[in-house]
Amino acid sequence: MSSLRMEFNLWYEYLSLYYIIAVYLLPAVAVFLAARKVTLYHWDLPQALSEKGGWLNDNIVDWFTDYADFTFRTFGSKVCDGKCGITLNIGYSKANQSSVRSDVEAADRAMQFDLEVMRNRVKERSEQQNLTTSRLPAFSQENIDELKGSSDFFGLNFYSGGNVIDSPTRNSEWNSQDTPNFFDDKATAGGRHEPSWTGSGSNWLFSTPELMRAVLVWIKNEYNNPDVYITENGFSDNTGQLNDAARVDYYKYYINNVLQAINEDKCNVKGYTAWSLMDNFEWGRGYLEKFGIHYVNFSDPERPRVPKDSARLYQQIIKDNGFPAPEPENSAVISIPNVTTWILVLIGYTAFN
Ligand SMILES: *[C@@H]1O[C@H](CO)[C@@H](O)[C@H](O)[C@H]1NC(C)=O
Ligand SMILES: *[C@@H]1O[C@H](CO)[C@@H](O)[C@H](O)[C@H]1NC(C)=O
Ligand SMILES: *[C@@H]1O[C@H](CO)[C@@H](O)[C@H](O)[C@H]1NC(C)=O
Ligand SMILES: *[C@@H]1O[C@H](CO)[C@@H](O)[C@H](O)[C@H]1NC(C)=O
Repeated sequence: MSSLRMEFNLWYEYLSLYYIIAVYLLPAVAVFLAARKVTLYHWDLPQALSEKGGWLNDNIVDWFTDYADFTFRTFGSKVCDGKCGITLNIGYSKANQSSVRSDVEAADRAMQFDLEVMRNRVKERSEQQNLTTSRLPAFSQENIDELKGSSDFFGLNFYSGGNVIDSPTRNSEWNSQDTPNFFDDKATAGGRHEPSWTGSGSNWLFSTPELMRAVLVWIKNEYNNPDVYITENGFSDNTGQLNDAARVDYYKYYINNVLQAINEDKCNVKGYTAWSLMDNFEWGRGYLEKFGIHYVNFSDPERPRVPKDSARLYQQIIKDNGFPAPEPENSAVISIPNVTTWILVLIGYTAFN
């Protein structure tokens, strides 16, 4: 237990570091003036808890409750009028061919698996696998009542989408895992790659700006138009180069599609955050895949940060509170009025509604 306690203490220390960054340092950066975001959990479970089964251990509910209680008690008063929500990471799945029924069903299934686990499908497949109960435990009525309406917003991490097809025996890296598993239940695979999609420094990431709008519309329709905060959106390369034209295009067209979702589709998007401020340690990809709008020289002990072209674009969008007058060759660009109170690139919502 003592190692568990130590992990928790370490965790708290990290947390206070994030807290210091969030509360004292970030406000100095113009884009963070009005919005403070505190993250309770982002992938990194303390090792001691992982070794006890992590999220698959029912006790995680109590562990996380203790941790959240501590956090709210300690920092709550500093985050006035806070909202509490959860972020989901989604890739928008489009039917490879809209005329092919199994493609359409596969696309819907892929979306459902990214956003909420498909209860009926897992139950059916559990039965096929001769299990006496579904692998997915059911919520009790008490759980349902407790959870209903408990999230103030829908946090969305979105980078890329793609065409999908039905693939009952998906032949991929995931299939080497023991079945049953998430991907085996999902049973979809990537389909046609469209020529207009620009590749990135990550094999899973293509620039698909129109799917940014599509995913927002999907969330609006599926979840009764909740408040949405885009908590991550960005583009990688392997070079960290300062002239990052592909990233500039990515942000320009993705943010513009967010704007169209707000103005034309009436999606309740309340905030937008780019991933990432600077080149960072990118989970399993280490330092190889760079998402920063600032370059970091990792060979220099001082770790200097240099703005890339994308940082200038982002700064300009914030400064202008939107985009310049429509470029004639791209009718998708919309100009929006200047309102100074927006947070981050909190685009157009107040102005138009
Ligand atoms: C389930 O049981 C049936 C009947 O005994 C058998 O034919 C089938 O192979 C079993 N399926 C699995 C996945 O074990
Ligand atoms: C995806 O769609 C294209 C046509 O747009 C078709 O040629 C291709 O065969 C489809 N891919 C799969 C795997 O079905
Ligand atoms: C990174 O830092 C190293 C060590 O200071 C230096 O030699 C190198 O020129 C720097 N690279 C860039 C791209 O600035
Ligand atoms: C936006 O409005 C503010 C306040 O009215 C003004 O100071 C600023 O110059 C305007 N910015 C632009 C780009 O028009």
